Amino acid sequence: MCVFRRLFIFIIFGLSTISFTSAAETVELKPNDAVYVKMGKKVYVEQCASCHGVNLEGQDGWRNTKVDGMRLAPPHDKSGHTWHHADEVLFNLTKYGFKAMISEDYEVSMPVYDGIIKDHEIVAVLSYIKSTWPADITEIHDKINSDYKSNRAMKEKMGGS
Ligand code: HEC
Repeated sequence: MCVFRRLFIFIIFGLSTISFTSAAETVELKPNDAVYVKMGKKVYVEQCASCHGVNLEGQDGWRNTKVDGMRLAPPHDKSGHTWHHADEVLFNLTKYGFKAMISEDYEVSMPVYDGIIKDHEIVAVLSYIKSTWPADITEIHDKINSDYKSNRAMKEKMGGS
């Protein structure tokens, strides 16, 4: 009986630990995972390169030209600002789109990828993008991620969202 009780407590504790972990889990890119990077490159070529450029160079004039009131696709390399955003922000922008993340009134040509590609493919394509960044940019981006995570943890502790 006692053994079963212990087993029961173990299971309950184990399950609560698991659910806690997944609730606190954030999206994490895998630029050092060769399988993800390879898959991501394929997704990039098929889904993103037409706008963001085969070499992640973006569209000519992206900084100050608008077409039909919409911005042009920025580069994903060092010269753009993709690396200014934490993993989770990049994931959400790609999956849910700019309207969901910024405002319904925001006009943008980029498709919403929810339902077009799977979550792990979004992680893969962003991991591929990150894998192309030089060491100094990767280092800054890692720091942006750790700041983002500690801000989130702090908000959760204080009961915010
Ligand atoms: C039809 C063109 C188009 C396609 C295809 C496209 N994008 Fe974009 N993307 C844009 C434009 C335009 C913007 C800039 C929007 C703005 O700032 O108003 C953008 C911005 C972004 C940003 C934000 C970058 C930043 O500097 O803040 C990310 C991340 C992104 N795209 C990822 C992707 C990924 C990943 C794919 C492929 C799965 C993709 N995009 C496919 C047009 C496109």
